[in-house]
Amino acid sequence: MLTKYLKKSETVTAGNLLKDGKLVAFPTETVYGLGARADSNIAIKRIFDVKGRPTFNPLIVHVASIDMAKDIAIFDDQSNQLLKAFWPGPITFVLPLKRNSRISKLVTADLSTVAIRFPSSIIAQRILLTANTPIAAPSANLSGKISPTSANQVFDSLNGKIDAILDGGVSQVGVESTIISTNPIRILRPGSITREKLESIGDVTLLNEDRDSTITAPGQLKSHYAPISNVRLNVDYPSSHEILLGFGNIQNAALNLSPSADLSEAASNLFRMLSEIDQIAIKNGIQTIAISPIPQKGIGDAINDRIERAAADKA
Ligand code: TXA
Ligand code: MG
Repeated sequence: MLTKYLKKSETVTAGNLLKDGKLVAFPTETVYGLGARADSNIAIKRIFDVKGRPTFNPLIVHVASIDMAKDIAIFDDQSNQLLKAFWPGPITFVLPLKRNSRISKLVTADLSTVAIRFPSSIIAQRILLTANTPIAAPSANLSGKISPTSANQVFDSLNGKIDAILDGGVSQVGVESTIISTNPIRILRPGSITREKLESIGDVTLLNEDRDSTITAPGQLKSHYAPISNVRLNVDYPSSHEILLGFGNIQNAALNLSPSADLSEAASNLFRMLSEIDQIAIKNGIQTIAISPIPQKGIGDAINDRIERAAADKA
């Protein structure tokens, strides 16, 4: 299959392709998504096939407006407050699915809840408005690999397998959206809407602090975002067999997430630098990527979450 390359100005073409049931990769403020109509079993099945994604791992539905979100999910007082504070933006709500919604059961993995997001990226919004129907979109990578923050990265893994890629430049946030469930607010996946920001609305628990949680979020528990090399965390002094991905003012790093120790900059560089340093390691016969300590605060929570997965046992 020939994958169409679309420029930033071609949002109407991208939106119409989605409306016609095609698979289109497009930018959001977090990472690139691989979109398809959320009401089309055929298109959604293709997403799982192309990514090699297990069918028990549900997808996020993207909407062009709050009205569109309310046709799909049930919002209570707290979720209404949260959406007023943070939408459009890099946060996904897991909410009860409305019975009469036309979302394919493949999207939700047949759960009674749906993950839903209204992105702030203007390009994403234009595409979603043209499509004028909810669009399911996981990150536009092969399952288990690093999420793409540029059209080139999408091209490298999905060219020839999907209908189009819209190149909207680099995704600024760089890590995937914060995912929460509500009542109480529980962070299922940390992101740039941080615990500190959510605490302005109510008490917050993290998934891993909450061992009794019955929420199933299958994609969030295993080794994920795996580079080919091994990864060692919290390293101040790498051994001679390691290559260092630095943070802050340090000398011996092959690449540095943020020399000025700015966590937002580090998040924005994370996935690109992880894949670049993986390539450098492979080329030089180095087996392990060492990563400097990252402060566990603000978006540092999200960075640590992703690099812990990158370091997880690949078994
Ligand atoms: O920033 C993002 O969220 C990007 C952009 C494209 O929007 N999307 C993204 O999608 O990261 P994906 O598929 O790579 O991650 C979605 C996560 C998965 O871990 C999945 O398990 C979880 O959302 N999820 C989806 N529906 C859920 C549900 N009903 N309950 C709990 N977790 C859910
Ligand atoms: Mg993903």
